[in-house]
Amino acid sequence: MLSGVKPTGRPHIGNYFGAMKQFVDLQSDFDEVFVFIADYHAMTSDTKKLLIGQNSIELALDYLAIGLDPEKVILFRQSSVPQVTELSWIFSCLVTMPYLMRAHAFKDAEAKKKEVNVGTFNYPVLMSADILIQDADIVPVGNDQKQHLEIAREIARKFNTQYGMIFKEPQEKILEETETVIGIDGQKMSKSYGNTIPLFATDEETEKIIMSVPMDSKGIDEKKNPDDYNLYKIAKLFTNENQDKEIRSMFENGGVGYAEIKKYVANVINNYLKEMRERRKELENNRDYVLEILEKGGKIARERAEKKMEEVRVKCGLNAE
Ligand code: ADP
Ligand code: TRP
Repeated sequence: MLSGVKPTGRPHIGNYFGAMKQFVDLQSDFDEVFVFIADYHAMTSDTKKLLIGQNSIELALDYLAIGLDPEKVILFRQSSVPQVTELSWIFSCLVTMPYLMRAHAFKDAEAKKKEVNVGTFNYPVLMSADILIQDADIVPVGNDQKQHLEIAREIARKFNTQYGMIFKEPQEKILEETETVIGIDGQKMSKSYGNTIPLFATDEETEKIIMSVPMDSKGIDEKKNPDDYNLYKIAKLFTNENQDKEIRSMFENGGVGYAEIKKYVANVINNYLKEMRERRKELENNRDYVLEILEKGGKIARERAEKKMEEVRVKCGLNAE
């Protein structure tokens, strides 16, 4: 199993329920588990070098705090494996521009900005290299990464046909219930929409965000269908059966103001995240430990990748004497 997240700022509950929680839930199910910090990918949108480096350490803290076990998981920075950029070059000679121009992420970037950098255009190729270089079978991600996995399979097939079978075709693992977590405004939760609930916010910050979730102008005594409300959809990610019943009845029976329902929901969320937030606080004082884990993981990932690249260079005929 292999997956990664970009170090582009504080992860939110969409990242958590869509992708990161899966990493933790699956970490004991595979012989080898690779989880990395996609710092090269972050460079497509953020070229301030200090931020990417710092954010990478922050993301490593997040990974450990949510429960990734460094005894089970090979945790590393993508840039500890420069072989992926070599493989990405080889792959970019296999795929065509029109093919990559159909990728959603590129089309979105192009619609927003006049000048898209080549890194953004090549993003799916580098991602394919991340996955294929480690022979990953399963890649847990949110729904927005589905197309990238299709591209990775296509690239594996192309390479295998042209140069000989050496790459596996990886499969995405997307959880249906949380494939696209909504933000407080009902759109997809995303750092770029400013609608997130950060995983590692303080209780106060979380409560403030929940209090700001837009509702409607229905009267306090009116009966309401909880399924119509973004607040309920977000709460549902965190509730146990009893808490769910309690929230549903507040909506359905009427008589409880939105502020009170929101306070209840904020409380449920803060309790759910309490333990991992505390664990993160402890880890913050132990950065050397975190750096050590990254270094160790980087070495293992790099050595494996180099071995694979030796095969790739032979297949491509680059090593002829
Ligand atoms: P963002 O989209 O916030 O910039 P990333 O691109 O770093 O975050 O995404 C990291 C992981 O989180 C990916 O697997 C992605 O599919 C998943 N993810 C991001 N946003 C959501 C969301 N709203 N719902 C479900 N999964 C998500
Ligand atoms: N593109 C992924 C994202 O936006 C991050 C990523 C880079 C990744 N390389 C990967 C995810 C390889 C899974 C496998 O979140």
